[in-house]
Amino acid sequence: MSFKEEMKNRSEMISREIRNFLPAEEGFQKTIFEACNYSVINGGKRLRPMMMQAVYCLCRGNKTYTEDDRAVLAPFMAAMEMIHSSSLVHDDLPCMDNDVLRRGVPSTWAKFGEDMGTLAGDGLMIYAFETASRSAAPAEAKAEAISVLARKTGIYGMIGGQTVDVQLTGKQPTKEQLEFIYRLKTGALIEGSFMIGAVLAGADKETVRQLEEAACCIGMAFQIQDDILDVTASEGELGKPIGSDAANGKVTWLTYYGMEQSAADVKNYTRRALDIIGKIGHDPFLEQLLVYLIDRKS
Ligand code: IPE
Ligand code: IPE
Ligand code: MG
Ligand code: MG
Ligand code: MG
Repeated sequence: MSFKEEMKNRSEMISREIRNFLPAEEGFQKTIFEACNYSVINGGKRLRPMMMQAVYCLCRGNKTYTEDDRAVLAPFMAAMEMIHSSSLVHDDLPCMDNDVLRRGVPSTWAKFGEDMGTLAGDGLMIYAFETASRSAAPAEAKAEAISVLARKTGIYGMIGGQTVDVQLTGKQPTKEQLEFIYRLKTGALIEGSFMIGAVLAGADKETVRQLEEAACCIGMAFQIQDDILDVTASEGELGKPIGSDAANGKVTWLTYYGMEQSAADVKNYTRRALDIIGKIGHDPFLEQLLVYLIDRKS
């Protein structure tokens, strides 16, 4: 099987897993269920749960993935994708990036209204924790993984990064501020995905720390490439509006460092991540995935 086929298979498998945890669309609050499900089901590459699973397998020395592993991991994979999707729902709101297209369809607020968009983002983020708590992991590992999930989502993680991103929109950030934004708004959930995969696999603290560092580099590379795509891709390829950053007056890595340096930084950050991971073990799919992301078109 080619890497592309493998990636597609894994993405579809993850989408099926996530569906198992989504709420039934019934009852007086039916609209919030519909808006949450809409936000998660609509495509998406499923990269974070994909990374979580690959890191889990890497830390277990690529032993066969069994039903027991699935009972431990799937709730956390679904939870991470719910949190990521919730971050996109809020990111698109008129008070944030004001974007009407996401994953090739109207963004959640554009479809359900701003009020339901706000509630669906909140709802998904909280429901993610309910979902993660269903994991069959041993109590101590589960508590640690949930703590990582909370930390990397919240005010010290993705939300912290989005805060500075919003506050500095239309302003000139320093290099330190720009790196801080990227590390948190995008890096944090990727760090969380790597760390949770490792924690649930029973990795030691030092390995978890190293994987956090590798994931931080992946997060930086990923967001810089996202900035490049905002300028170079087409709306059809990307499934979200192009030129969103310029329209919002955002200083991005690209406007700060230029195309050549930004493209080089994507490669350099990825190389650093691969070096760190290579010292821990080998998972050919994970390695190919990280290399693939350098030149991704969506
Ligand atoms: C988009 O993430 C938001 C960023 C952090 C840059 P993805 O590119 O992973 O979005 P989906 O999930 O595939 O739609
Ligand atoms: C994404 O940054 C950060 C999030 C936490 C959602 P962007 O604002 O660049 O993401 P896109 O381009 O809208 O997906
Ligand atoms: Mg944004
Ligand atoms: Mg945005
Ligand atoms: Mg972007």
